[in-house]
Amino acid sequence: MSEPKPSNLSAPNPRSSSDLWDAVILGAGAAGLMTAIVAARRGKRVLLLDHAKKPAEKIRISGGGRCNFTNIGTTEKNFLSHNPRFCISALRTFKPKNFIAMVEAHGIAWHEKTLGQLFCDDSAQQIIDMLLAELRQAGGTLRLETVIKGVEKRGDLFVIETNKGTQQAHSLVVATGGKSIPKMGATGLGYDIAQQFNVPIIPTRAALVPFTFSDAQKSWSDPMAGLSVDARVCVGKKSFREGLLFTHRGLSGPSILQISSYWQEGVPVIIDLAPDANCFDTLAVARQEHPKQDVATILSSILPKRLAKAVCERDHIHGHIAQLGDKALRKLDDAVHRWTVTPIGTEGYRTAEVTLGGVDTKAISSKTMQANETPGLYFIGEVLDVTGHLGGFNFQWAWASGYAAGNAL
Ligand code: FDA
Repeated sequence: MSEPKPSNLSAPNPRSSSDLWDAVILGAGAAGLMTAIVAARRGKRVLLLDHAKKPAEKIRISGGGRCNFTNIGTTEKNFLSHNPRFCISALRTFKPKNFIAMVEAHGIAWHEKTLGQLFCDDSAQQIIDMLLAELRQAGGTLRLETVIKGVEKRGDLFVIETNKGTQQAHSLVVATGGKSIPKMGATGLGYDIAQQFNVPIIPTRAALVPFTFSDAQKSWSDPMAGLSVDARVCVGKKSFREGLLFTHRGLSGPSILQISSYWQEGVPVIIDLAPDANCFDTLAVARQEHPKQDVATILSSILPKRLAKAVCERDHIHGHIAQLGDKALRKLDDAVHRWTVTPIGTEGYRTAEVTLGGVDTKAISSKTMQANETPGLYFIGEVLDVTGHLGGFNFQWAWASGYAAGNAL
């Protein structure tokens, strides 16, 4: 990475050991890298700092190692925020096709998996290599293993104290992401900086995260661990139809991760374990046509065998189908199409893909990502209260918000 020469200091309190940059960007993840590339291409002197040993670790592990780097169906409807229209401007300016163009210019092969989700054919590392190559070509500077000790604004300049010296910049871009997966370097630094500059925070919680069950719930569900079904999962009026996976801790899979962003503790989740089937009709027809068949065997034409057996056992419904009245069939119909379950919690930030809440966007310009009350201070990516659904939307937000700030600073 080339090191552009810092310009002469003209800060109110210049320090001989400081470097002066147009922008210092905290966090070399998806959003920070995009801002650095865009600003450096415009001739800005940018310094990207990260405390990690390697940049963009979340890109590396994303999409099962293949990075679901965007979603071609991205609209504001794919995001949760207390300010739902905030994301529109950035998303309309930098679209999935713009990122795809960058990917293609670097010869990275990709494919659409399902529901508009685009993945690398080979490896997520290709996306990281692409971003680093772009940054290098644009003349941006990346410094890793840099601990941020504190930031402050002196006059028109931001002063950033690190374990490797002091930096000064006309703009400070906070791109430190959310709280999910602390093991990978996630910290609350972005929220602390927001509070320092009186930018409000919407309370945060883990999202796109598996549900956990009580011991009593697990004693029923544990034998199903590893089993997956296509399911429709609802909380209130919100529903998602995708895969559901039984785990040793509770429930996971795309439909569960999606609904977790809308779930609050104590709220029941209603699950249709066989959305394309009509359980009551199937059982009623079988009662006429195969009266001697075991009810669990008939149910296994709709559900995986292990699950069919467990549902019948839990509801104490067994024996030949001919022995069962409509009431029992309705009970099974409910168990299949309206399984009502209240998880005791989620796996939390340890495994969550994203953080819900964050920097309140009412205090931020939707065009530039700049804080309304602090000129030169920008927040981008996941640290903001903009949280995407599962499926490439969170990276698209990182690229789009990063692009907006990179063009504005
Ligand atoms: P990001 O978290 O990427 O980067 C923040 C950077 O700041 C990190 O490099 C970190 O080290 C640094 N940092 C943090 N604190 C610091 C401090 N105190 N000092 C210095 N540096 C600091 N999304 C998607 O669209 N498609 C997908 O396939 C996936 N898959 C996926 C899998 C898994 C397992 C997870 C956890 C997440 C995903 N995501 C995803 C979500 C996606 O990874 C996430 O939304 C973006 O990476 C957010 O980009 P940011 O740049 O905002 O933060």
